[in-house]
Amino acid sequence: MNHTTQEGINNAHLWPLTTVVSVHGRLIIGGCDVAALARQYGTPLYLFDEETIRSACRTWRTALAACYQGETAVHYASKALLNTALTHLIADEGLGLDVVSGGELYVALRASFPPERIHMHGNAKTRAELEQALASGIGQIIVDNLDELAMLANLTVHRSPPQPIALRIAPDVVTNTHAHIQTGHATSKFGLPLDALDAAAERLRAASGLRLIGLHAHLGSQLFDLEPYAAAIATLLDSAMRMRDHHGFILQQINIGGGAGVPYTADQHPFDVHALAMRSGEALTDGCRRCGFPLLRLVIEPGRSIIARAGVALYTIIATKNLPHTRFLHIDGGMGDNIRPALYGARYSAVLAERANAPIEESVEITGRYCESGDVLIHAAPLPRASVGDILAVPVAGAYTLSMASTYNLTPRPAVVMVNDGSVRLIQRRETYEDMVARDVVSSQGQV
Ligand code: LLP
Repeated sequence: MNHTTQEGINNAHLWPLTTVVSVHGRLIIGGCDVAALARQYGTPLYLFDEETIRSACRTWRTALAACYQGETAVHYASKALLNTALTHLIADEGLGLDVVSGGELYVALRASFPPERIHMHGNAKTRAELEQALASGIGQIIVDNLDELAMLANLTVHRSPPQPIALRIAPDVVTNTHAHIQTGHATSKFGLPLDALDAAAERLRAASGLRLIGLHAHLGSQLFDLEPYAAAIATLLDSAMRMRDHHGFILQQINIGGGAGVPYTADQHPFDVHALAMRSGEALTDGCRRCGFPLLRLVIEPGRSIIARAGVALYTIIATKNLPHTRFLHIDGGMGDNIRPALYGARYSAVLAERANAPIEESVEITGRYCESGDVLIHAAPLPRASVGDILAVPVAGAYTLSMASTYNLTPRPAVVMVNDGSVRLIQRRETYEDMVARDVVSSQGQV
């Protein structure tokens, strides 16, 4: 790259690591001209930067290994985003994978992800999903409630060797995040209440086809404080001690879930992965000593912090509407590909892909194409004067966007490209109108 002809992007911490702006103001990611890709592949287009994904995987793995002397493992929470290319990349980086449905498990296995590195979550796993998990030989099933435990015990009678499982507890740790993404409180729908542990132990004692490996807790998502993690570790260890002292189960693993926050707008700061690794490593080391355990294996399940920053959503401005105090820029995407603003009041920012660092001239409402007044992607977005046909680039769009996308208004879901070192590959094609009727069993002429 020729450094005399490009500059860094403003608010670089929101953009993929490889982002630069050409001397002509054009956004370049992974060595590729972003607006040119948008025109070539059409919009909405989701672009992922391979280097940023790989770097996030490495940061988590090395931080955890450096800050804890016991064994460590990082499992990517695939609910943030999963597709075949990403599965290959996560496998290649040596992470494990968390899946939360038969669908995610199917995609992972189809992409040859090693089953022993897969953990399966879910508060309402169906019998079919449990059978699928057992048949594929996945590493661990994270059991969420007593009914699931009973069903699993039935499905594994005479199983040899036994299926490794972990128990998810609700550790009664409250976090400072949106109510919809809090999960560690005592009244959460997720996890065993602490006072149900004894009952779980009773059932497990009779379940010869299951082997309890460890305990799990996930506190919530988009967290920035470290202390809730330390509190959860203390509760997990107390619970592990109870399982040992009262029930004779010797556990090997503590899994502290995911949740590391990600900055979405310029005023938010990056989360310090190293600091979380330090705090967790220290809390687990001290706790194991206190409880008389050897150093238990530490597992962590980041989702958002692996994939959010690597993804940029690209839209075309289709139309504008000018009122005395409000200017709307209508784009060709919105809540169908990113429901987060409507669902959580999530905030995003945007730049024009062909005038990336240009001075701000106005504040606009960036409104989606869907037939809902709540379909506002960005409220009061500061932008240079934009016009119809401009390409809008929205950073930090990698997590919980495409994985929560819908075909509302029967609008096809976006295409996805991966860029790396000046090359681009289409990793998921745009949905087609044909896809929209692929499940209809009535022919277009009305006969079955
Ligand atoms: N482990 C478990 C058991 C989880 O339930 C989750 C996320 C994670 C790990 C990963 O959490 P992360 O590191 O991504 O925060 N749709 C919401 C987020 C829902 C998160 C659900 N569980 C959003 O768009 O903000």
